[in-house]
Amino acid sequence: MNNIDRLEATYLPLKVGGIDFYNPFCVGSGPTVKTVDMIRKIDRAGWGAAFIKLTIDPEPYISNEPRYRWWKKYKMHTFTAEKRIKLDEALRICEQGKKFARTTKIFSNITYDGPDGLDGWVRMAKAFEEAGADGNELNMCCPNMSYNVEVCGEDSRHCTGASMGKNPQMVADVVKAVKEESSIPLFVKLTPEGGNIAEVAQAAYRAGADVVSSVGNRLGMPPIPDIENPLASPIRLQKNPSLTDLTGPWLKPLALRDVYEIRLLNGSQAAICGYGGMSNWKDYVEMIMFGADLVGICTDTMIRGYDFLYKEIILLKEYLERHNYQSVTELRDLLVPHIRTAQTLELEQAVAYVMEEKCIGCEVCIPIGHCYAIEMVKGEGWKGRNKKGMVARVNPYNCTGCSTCFDLCPTDCFEWKPVPADRRDIPV
Ligand SMILES: Cc1cc2nc3c(=O)[nH]c(=O)nc-3n(C[C@H](O)[C@H](O)[C@H](O)COP(=O)(O)O)c2cc1C
Ligand code: SF4
Ligand code: SF4
Repeated sequence: MNNIDRLEATYLPLKVGGIDFYNPFCVGSGPTVKTVDMIRKIDRAGWGAAFIKLTIDPEPYISNEPRYRWWKKYKMHTFTAEKRIKLDEALRICEQGKKFARTTKIFSNITYDGPDGLDGWVRMAKAFEEAGADGNELNMCCPNMSYNVEVCGEDSRHCTGASMGKNPQMVADVVKAVKEESSIPLFVKLTPEGGNIAEVAQAAYRAGADVVSSVGNRLGMPPIPDIENPLASPIRLQKNPSLTDLTGPWLKPLALRDVYEIRLLNGSQAAICGYGGMSNWKDYVEMIMFGADLVGICTDTMIRGYDFLYKEIILLKEYLERHNYQSVTELRDLLVPHIRTAQTLELEQAVAYVMEEKCIGCEVCIPIGHCYAIEMVKGEGWKGRNKKGMVARVNPYNCTGCSTCFDLCPTDCFEWKPVPADRRDIPV
């Protein structure tokens, strides 16, 4: 696809936080937004925005060559060590990127960690404004610096990223100070680690934040690849085991919940950028339907580069057309009012039934621990049954309708039938 076609394919305009975006898709702050060349590739691929890698002033207090691992089997990415960048370097990336960027809005992702407190934050934000940034983003989310140290029971002597982002007052103070002095839009990227992301978002909006980004990632233990040698680090070129920052597709259900909670508490006017586990256009649709205005992506750009975007947007546009949506913003919040609580769910009543002609008698459904309804019985002449001529059958008087058997059966034998009219209580 040539450049002009790509530009046309990725055009899906919307306005968020006072900014006109070419499309809602943002490359999140991380290892794929660290150089001018990366910004060039991002812009060529037609992304709506790029958030420059976390920039710490004065000096990043933890910054090492990166150590990543992509756990294909778990659809999970982990990072332990990571290089953060210095202010002058980030300002140069911003300034140069702004000279050529066509579709891509350029944002900072900043943390001040020096003795000047709020003045330091303001200084950084203003420096990016002068460098031409389309907006600033406060990093109130990184779980892998001071927060990691705290979780492991040590005294970090620093308080950045997720350590700040779980404290509504700290977040509000920085937002207020930056908004008073800087005139470009302000994003605040929040962590779910404090268990209060919606409340912290509320404090940020009240203090003047234009957009809240929901980081998605969690700090957790990576899998131990060889349990015979549990002290060996799961991360290559790293001597010790450690907590890791967990991202990628496994994260999506939790990330959707974060965005949903922010939307629910802060109402339809609040602008949200949702991150976490996005890997195709269907994920983007879900994220927007659960409350996001903008969709942020990091891990997928580490694995697939930047060029896939137009293909996903073409499929998304086809979806919009199929459902007669005039713009992507019409998808926003669609699922939010339909989410029921545990106490208001409406359950349907039915019992499982085995279509004997499909049953191969594999007995996979027999050990289900919570089920007292399935037994193997002599089949009635169907070809597929096992060597002993047995097939599975459900006793409808014992079936609770839980549906586990549907998910386990390799040949999709199960279907629903009405509950017998004379059934009373189920014994288990
Ligand atoms: C290696 C790595 C480095 C990251 N660095 C930053 C960062 O510097 N600043 C930031 O706000 N988020 C950072 N993130 C978080 C991502 O921007 C994103 O919010 C998160 O990974 C969830 O989205 P994903 O599942 O698409 O990766 C980083 C993520 C990864 C994987
Ligand atoms: S629906 Fe649940 S209870 Fe019913 S047969 Fe299947 S596993 Fe057993
Ligand atoms: S899992 Fe499916 S195919 Fe196997 S015995 Fe049960 S119903 Fe038959």
